[in-house]
Amino acid sequence: MSGTSGISGRADSRDNCCQTTNTKRYTFVNHQSLKGLTYCNGQIKTQFGVKTLTTVLEVQDLTKTYQLGSVPVEALRGVSFTVDQGDLVSILGPSGSGKSTLLNLVGALDRPTAGTLLINGVDVSKLSDNELAEARKNVGFVFQFFNLIPRLNARDNIELPLAIAGVPKKERKARTVEALKSVGLEDRMDHKSSELSGGERQRVAVARALITKPSFLLMDEPTGNLDSKTAQEMMDLVIELNKSLNMTVIIVTHNKAVALRTRRTFSMLDGLIASDEVNGQ
Ligand SMILES: Nc1ncnc2c1ncn2[C@@H]1O[C@H](COP(=O)(O)OP(=O)(O)OP(=O)(O)O)[C@@H](O)[C@H]1O
Ligand SMILES: [Mg+2]
Repeated sequence: MSGTSGISGRADSRDNCCQTTNTKRYTFVNHQSLKGLTYCNGQIKTQFGVKTLTTVLEVQDLTKTYQLGSVPVEALRGVSFTVDQGDLVSILGPSGSGKSTLLNLVGALDRPTAGTLLINGVDVSKLSDNELAEARKNVGFVFQFFNLIPRLNARDNIELPLAIAGVPKKERKARTVEALKSVGLEDRMDHKSSELSGGERQRVAVARALITKPSFLLMDEPTGNLDSKTAQEMMDLVIELNKSLNMTVIIVTHNKAVALRTRRTFSMLDGLIASDEVNGQ
């Protein structure tokens, strides 16, 4: 697939472009997600005004082969795409298609076997272990089973990444309360995670992921353990955070209804992106 939804794909998208001497100015015609909009020097003009686009992820021919004893498992077989700041993307696909493998690479949790992966312009495959850990600070993770510490209350779970990062106590407290408010849980801050519902636990996990102010949020089956009503509410929250914070979000899901609520969906099959579609919303 061409993977040209980001502005970095403009070289492929200059159908009918009009270029003046001092500025780069294109009107996208065949470009899937930018159709009808005008690009001018890093900005997209929409009916709501001018929006600056920054590519946060650039992925080119990415492969990942696990070695299972003597057997190679080709989990990703050449995946390419770009994601712009503020986008809301879902990765949909059957079990074993490579969704989590891709998310782990994008989150700098693992290294690719081959291909290029730029996070905020930095080539992750060339980083040392320490630098990789540094790159991970750009990323907030949310997982299907919440991964909270059961004996800690909501507030302490959320505050933990800041404590590890050595943020002063006063600032930690203020940021934790702010994060709890942003997920609508200020009245549950003293509850241990074992005293929270599944939906509330996932909200705590989202607040914990956001507290370090990451440049994007990666969610692996965030609604997989929730009933359909709570899953809807989780998606309401994700959409709200995406809009209000201009937070880039990538959600892995098996659930087509969840995927359809995102702006753009990659469908994965056998380690490849079989389609990259913009959802009508
Ligand atoms: N650490 C590993 N070692 C060997 N093979 C692995 C490893 N992790 C994943 N795989 C294999 O890579 C392929 C892709 O796995 P991945 O976990 O990315 O799939 P997925 O799409 O997330 O599936 P699910 O929806 O079940 O979570 C599978 O065939 C899996 O068995
Ligand atoms: Mg998975």
